[in-house]
Amino acid sequence: METEKEMRYLTFALGKGRLAKKTLELFEQIGITCEEMKDPDSRKLIFVNEELKLKFFLSKGPDVPTYVEYGAADIGVVGRDTILEERRKLYEVLDLGFGACRMCVCGLESARPLLKSQELIRVATKYPNIAKDYFYNQKNQTVEIIKLNGSIELAPIVGLSEVIVDIVETGSTLRENGLVVLEEVCPLSARVVVNQVSMRMENERITKLLGDLNRVISKMTVSQPG
Ligand code: PRP
Repeated sequence: METEKEMRYLTFALGKGRLAKKTLELFEQIGITCEEMKDPDSRKLIFVNEELKLKFFLSKGPDVPTYVEYGAADIGVVGRDTILEERRKLYEVLDLGFGACRMCVCGLESARPLLKSQELIRVATKYPNIAKDYFYNQKNQTVEIIKLNGSIELAPIVGLSEVIVDIVETGSTLRENGLVVLEEVCPLSARVVVNQVSMRMENERITKLLGDLNRVISKMTVSQPG
């Protein structure tokens, strides 16, 4: 007698907020739904789709790569900024396209010459690893990195640092605070990451999922030029 192999749950870690909302919209287009996750008032942290044997949980964005590296989640959706900053062991497998923005060095226009000289300037950022990699390895400029937790644009205005390394999306935060982009570090967007063991053990299901997502994304890119 043939016994059907018990399908285990595939677990997804999603970064709370806008990214999770966009991700769930995308998943719906490939037939993966999780109705109870849409309730904005819910304080529940984990949601199950029994039929498809899927689990979803919402964590802080920077913790998504941690859950995926340790295998507490098989798959994660997270911004490329977080992947670069956290430096976890995982596979980055798909660019979802949304959440597009740029990691930039920003400051007052008057700070521009400081980036050309070899002066020891101060750089405030929520992303010390990205900032270190950019200044030390790519630009060969020794700088002092100051870690902040948000509202990074304040730093050059109040004299904490000469420049910042931060995310620029529409540019309005910079504009409204009299700051400009001085250099671009790298482009960013939402990415799918996969646990290295899960990729082997659940290859068929994960490959199918990525293929489905890829088809939807390609269609969106074709129908929304620019
Ligand atoms: C992010 C980022 C910038 C802003 C960029 O901050 O750190 O401050 O958004 O967006 P914009 O170019 O469209 O103005 P967020 O709002 O996430 O909060 P934070 O400053 O506390 O990090």
